[in-house]
Amino acid sequence: MSGFDTHWLALREPADRAARHPGLINSLAEYLRGQDAPLVLDIGCGTGSTWRSLAGRLPAGTRWLMLDNDPLLLDEAARRIGSDDDVTFHRHDLNDVEGLPLEGVSVVTASALFDLCSERFCAALADRLAAARCGLYAALNYDGSMRWFPPHPLDAGMVELFNRHQRTDKGFGPALGPDAVACLTRQLAKRGFFVRTGDSPWRLDADMAELDAELLKGLRGPLIEMSGVSDVAIDDWLAYRLAGLGKQRGSDLVGHTDILALPV
Ligand SMILES: C[S@@+](CC[C@H](N)C(=O)[O-])C[C@H]1O[C@@H](n2cnc3c(N)ncnc32)[C@H](O)[C@@H]1O
Repeated sequence: MSGFDTHWLALREPADRAARHPGLINSLAEYLRGQDAPLVLDIGCGTGSTWRSLAGRLPAGTRWLMLDNDPLLLDEAARRIGSDDDVTFHRHDLNDVEGLPLEGVSVVTASALFDLCSERFCAALADRLAAARCGLYAALNYDGSMRWFPPHPLDAGMVELFNRHQRTDKGFGPALGPDAVACLTRQLAKRGFFVRTGDSPWRLDADMAELDAELLKGLRGPLIEMSGVSDVAIDDWLAYRLAGLGKQRGSDLVGHTDILALPV
């Protein structure tokens, strides 16, 4: 079980929805319109954010299989999605790539997942996707960039420390962190997929201060774990950043990239 917090997932969902690259969603919908019985497998589905963001934009009758290893998140997804004959739920640990239920699946979707994953996982998944001639749409992969207003001399160092933490094991072996999209692109292109990527940054304006604050508070543990800067410097930097929320004149930015890979 992974223990992702439902409050955090709910808080980020509107920002994720606004950030998703629209051109890739349109291309995904067009691809599914060409499938006889479109079936989407959403891996690491959490409480169903991808379903809520995409369902109305994909062809009517698209069926969804929602997969996660966390039973509490799956229960919450079922509760929030409600009774829908086109949606089923499946508990599965993604480390068992061979056991992924890909039969009849047109496209695997994911959001905020692949930066947690390892290169070995992506290679094994790419093998299975290629064998099944199944596409991949993966949104909101953190790209290693964060920017705040106004700038602070410690910003770059904090991002660097956080990015080092991003590469530690999140349950799949050494995580790709900001390299996730480059790795997926390489792995899928060499298996003959047509791959497109698009930026999907969070733009955190003053009205997104609650998400910005949770994001900053969530950085503390990883920053302290990586050390390299004193705990006092980290806390002073966080206090400075938190005190400025809601007053900034520009958007704080967190960089993400979406990827759509389709079999040709
Ligand atoms: C950051 S959350 C994203 C959830 C959802 N896609 C969203 O955008 O709100 C990552 C998700 O991956 C799931 N996850 C992590 N490791 C997993 C594993 N080994 N097997 C299945 N799901 C996993 C977590 O339970 C969580 O739901």
